[in-house]
Amino acid sequence: MLNPHIAIDLGTCNTIVYINHKGIIFNEPTVIAINETNKNTYAIGYEAAKLIGRTPQGIKIIHPLKNGVIADLEATIKFISTIFQLTKNKRSLRKAKIIITAPSELTPVEENAIKQLAKKLGVSKLLIENKAKMAAIGSDLDVNSSKGSMIVDVGGGTTDVVVLSVGKVVVSKSIPNAGLLIDEAIIRYMRATHNIMIGEKNAEYIKMKIGSVGTNYENRLLQISGVSIETSLPHSVIITTQAISEVINPIVNDIIDCVRDILFITPPELAGDIVENGISLTGGIALLTGLRETLEKALNVPVRLTADPLLSTIEGCRLSLKTFKNALNH
Ligand SMILES: Nc1ncnc2c1ncn2[C@@H]1O[C@H](COP(=O)(O)OP(=O)(O)OP(=O)(O)O)[C@@H](O)[C@H]1O
Ligand SMILES: [Mg+2]
Repeated sequence: MLNPHIAIDLGTCNTIVYINHKGIIFNEPTVIAINETNKNTYAIGYEAAKLIGRTPQGIKIIHPLKNGVIADLEATIKFISTIFQLTKNKRSLRKAKIIITAPSELTPVEENAIKQLAKKLGVSKLLIENKAKMAAIGSDLDVNSSKGSMIVDVGGGTTDVVVLSVGKVVVSKSIPNAGLLIDEAIIRYMRATHNIMIGEKNAEYIKMKIGSVGTNYENRLLQISGVSIETSLPHSVIITTQAISEVINPIVNDIIDCVRDILFITPPELAGDIVENGISLTGGIALLTGLRETLEKALNVPVRLTADPLLSTIEGCRLSLKTFKNALNH
């Protein structure tokens, strides 16, 4: 049998694992729950995420990635190894050739953590690929053409802006303005304005339910429960789309500035291609109401969503595993 080819879209919020001939074997939150006494894995993915904010005694919840990179190597190794164990795919790791995705501008320490992970998994060959570049390939952009194309991947931990031409990254930038920063800003807003403490899951719920970018929104109301800072008792408040939009807009403005910065340093011919052909928008936050329209208006360039913003990167890895067989075979 041929050696397996594996791809891992190692995202700050979601991890997706693909094995050739099997397809996607895991697509769940990048969360692990550890038993603090014996250090064993208690749960991963959805099962671990369910425990956020309601952790039983002796169990510790870890988000092994921060801002797109491995923040806790030991937890990441446990997390990924458990995926292969639970899905009965451990044997696939032997002699496997693997793609692991990462943001632009990795430091040597961050790159080394990915290499350590691959070594611990026991794979035979590792290729670290830019996640936005993979998303471009996965969303049918003609990255091999000499024309310039731009993709903006707004995920949980980072926004990655990449310009590609003849299959290569020409210019790129990664900033930590993405989904989790929005959730943190919502938590701060609830505390400062409504005197109420809410958890990270509730903040994400608010973002998804009534979060909106720009000013052209339908103002909706949402009742949210938390703990009153004054009385420490359960308390409910009503919040509006308008208020949440005011929390989100400054974070989106930094994303717009990042795209502008990249357009400024893009060689003029390629920038011309991008202005003509438009920008592709991907990653989970691409689904936030009004983001596409706001980017389009602010940049005066057409912006379109990729077909499946949460799956573009792993789809690009799947296609690249085929094309990269040669590169991986060395
Ligand atoms: N329908 C939606 N509306 C708004 N936000 C959403 C929606 N679906 C997912 N998200 C947000 O998208 C983010 C996760 O996106 P994604 O899975 O692309 O990130 P990731 O790949 O794990 O992170 P990164 O690539 O930055 O390391 C989370 O912040 C999540 O709350
Ligand atoms: Mg991602």
